[in-house]
Amino acid sequence: MTQEKLLELLGDMSLQEKIDQLLQLNENFYTGNEQEVATGPARDMGITEEDVKCAGSILGSYGAKKTKKIQDDYMAKQPHHIPMLFMMDVIHGMKTIFPAPIAQGAAFDPNIAKMACDIAAREAAVTGLHCTFSPMVDLVRDARWGRVVESTGEDPYLNSLYAKASVEGFQGESGDLTEKFKIASCVKHFAGYGAAEAGRDYNTVEMSRPAFREYYLKSYKAGIDAKAALVMTSFNTVEGVPASANKWLMRDILRKEMGFDGVLISDYAAIEETIYHGVSEDKREAAKKCIEAGVDIDMMSNCYAANLKKLVEDGEIDEKLIDEGALRVLELKNKLGLFENPYKDADEKLEKTMILSEPHRIAAREAAARTFVLLKNDKDDSGFSVLPLREEKKTAFIGPFVDSKDIMSSWAVTGDVSSCVSVGQAARENFGKKVLFAKGCEILGDDVHVPSFMGEVHYPQTEEEKEKLFAEAVELAKTVENVVLFLGEDTSQTGEAASRGFLDIPEVQSELLKRVHAVNKNIAVVLFTGRPLDLREVSKLSRSILVVWRPGTEGGHAIVDVLTGKRGPCGKLPMSFPYCVGQEPIHYDRLATGRFAEPGTKEKFKSRYIDMPTEPLYPFGFGLTYTDITMSEVKLDRNEMTKDGKITATVTLKNIGDVVGVETLQLYIKDVKASIARPMRQLKGFEKVELMPGNAREIGFEITADKLSFVDGDGNEVLEKGDFEVYVGFDSTTENKASFVLK
Ligand code: BGC
Repeated sequence: MTQEKLLELLGDMSLQEKIDQLLQLNENFYTGNEQEVATGPARDMGITEEDVKCAGSILGSYGAKKTKKIQDDYMAKQPHHIPMLFMMDVIHGMKTIFPAPIAQGAAFDPNIAKMACDIAAREAAVTGLHCTFSPMVDLVRDARWGRVVESTGEDPYLNSLYAKASVEGFQGESGDLTEKFKIASCVKHFAGYGAAEAGRDYNTVEMSRPAFREYYLKSYKAGIDAKAALVMTSFNTVEGVPASANKWLMRDILRKEMGFDGVLISDYAAIEETIYHGVSEDKREAAKKCIEAGVDIDMMSNCYAANLKKLVEDGEIDEKLIDEGALRVLELKNKLGLFENPYKDADEKLEKTMILSEPHRIAAREAAARTFVLLKNDKDDSGFSVLPLREEKKTAFIGPFVDSKDIMSSWAVTGDVSSCVSVGQAARENFGKKVLFAKGCEILGDDVHVPSFMGEVHYPQTEEEKEKLFAEAVELAKTVENVVLFLGEDTSQTGEAASRGFLDIPEVQSELLKRVHAVNKNIAVVLFTGRPLDLREVSKLSRSILVVWRPGTEGGHAIVDVLTGKRGPCGKLPMSFPYCVGQEPIHYDRLATGRFAEPGTKEKFKSRYIDMPTEPLYPFGFGLTYTDITMSEVKLDRNEMTKDGKITATVTLKNIGDVVGVETLQLYIKDVKASIARPMRQLKGFEKVELMPGNAREIGFEITADKLSFVDGDGNEVLEKGDFEVYVGFDSTTENKASFVLK
């Protein structure tokens, strides 16, 4: 439809009909449960039959047959037969679930996200979905926050690359949403949601403008530049004002500065929550503030539907504000081609053949293997490490995750646990009867009850049952040379509303580790987690640690691929793993202080702790391979640069081990002196380098002015003359450095 026709349509719609385009309801309103709903939540929400007839979008409904039927019924009743938008959270896969975003970040390879989002879009599109609430690009620095699992980590540069790749995966590079199997992508949560104080979900965010711009805003901008069709507001306050009601944030920063002209949707009931933040008197004022701030869609509250009409009639807001929002929603429908084809790609036949198809599973397996991070792999006196496993060594697979298929994440809401491949299943396929198994314990002890989307998670167990499982594991561990222990967090311990005050593995698993260690020291721990954990004990009691995050549908296969060395581990930590929870929030790119403490110093009056190290246990960017790769000193091709010039930093890598390995070479830059304090160093580039045994390669990073400038508190790009330090290496602590001057 032409823009002219869209405007004509808008001009023909009644005020309430336009307002209802800004309303999003869930599927209960459309699946014949209206009666039921009208006596339950709908009644409480004050949603009228008219609203249901005209609501612009639906949350959480998918399935080709069902969505087509809902669309038909809806369009028949909607006064202008405007199609409805189907939206849902498709985060790291629709049915073929890829590794969780934090794991994807560990791949240091945005192409993985692009591929995962492309496949997710295909599977979602054939079920009738038009739009996903993804990617979440919130920068995260506090492992206590449960939603770090949905982020690609603590670094703005890495996050921005993933934001772009994810949007392009869902929507295609051209952003032409009429293309087959493409869905609209929604960058969330604008802005700063990842900085919730004390890592407690939904909590206040307080920070300076330079920090907000330097660290937090970049990844949203990258998603918007990649043409994301939607942006979602965040639950938190920004400078004291809840994001959804924050005019400065939405009008000045998002719309004007970042140039976003797509649909701005509130987070779930966030408009109504401005009342509980204490900035809106009631739903009417909430509606007024948020429409003035430029929020187009009200997700799951009736603030807009019940109040906007009256506000216009009473002359408190201009109808233009409603037109602005309704037009954006109509434009999105038009961009998706829904006026011509309201089902878009919904297809019952393809649902059966494409979803969880062999190529999709292969892609998920490949992706997962590339996200695993080897944190430790100590050699014994004869020079052997536990990993990769060797056939001649008798090995036992022990732990509650051996046979668990619950290895996606709490935001894989469309995925099915039953489609996942457990480690046990993959190991049986690979080794037949040769590997020995024991469960050892439940994932959580009987003392832990965690609320989740599915209700309370609890593993009831008597003391006797618990002891029996421990005893079986210990007996088995005595009879083998090596033990692989599969430990970690329960799915319910990560994700939304899953903040933690402790970052340990569950106590019952720690007990299992200790008991197994008492009889066998050759332990490799395979760790399932959605966040950085405190691994002091795990590290002390094991010879190897492989972090496999929440690996998704093909997790079991990918893990066995890496344990056996069929694929080498090549992931790097996208978030620092702290020494202990007391260090949180922690990130490598902290600002310089007046009293920097050299690692290990005992000096007083330095910026350090008196009872624990200042450095994390495993730093950002860290991860080992199965081989040994050496690096030469970094060389710069010149030591002076002008603002239009460039410098190349070069190192040579050599694989001196006896297996192939993939290293991730990282470039960090430090601005030694500037008008405001600058980070100790910042990631500015990386490259994955595959080397066969004995092979060497020279790698060069080009340094140009854009890698040296920064954004000040007012949003100006600043480039200042002076000294810069260049660090090249295998993680964020590298001391392989050289310097130059920007003239
Ligand atoms: C979450 C969003 C999500 C929305 C819709 C909210 O609770 O914060 O990330 O997109 O629900 O499911």
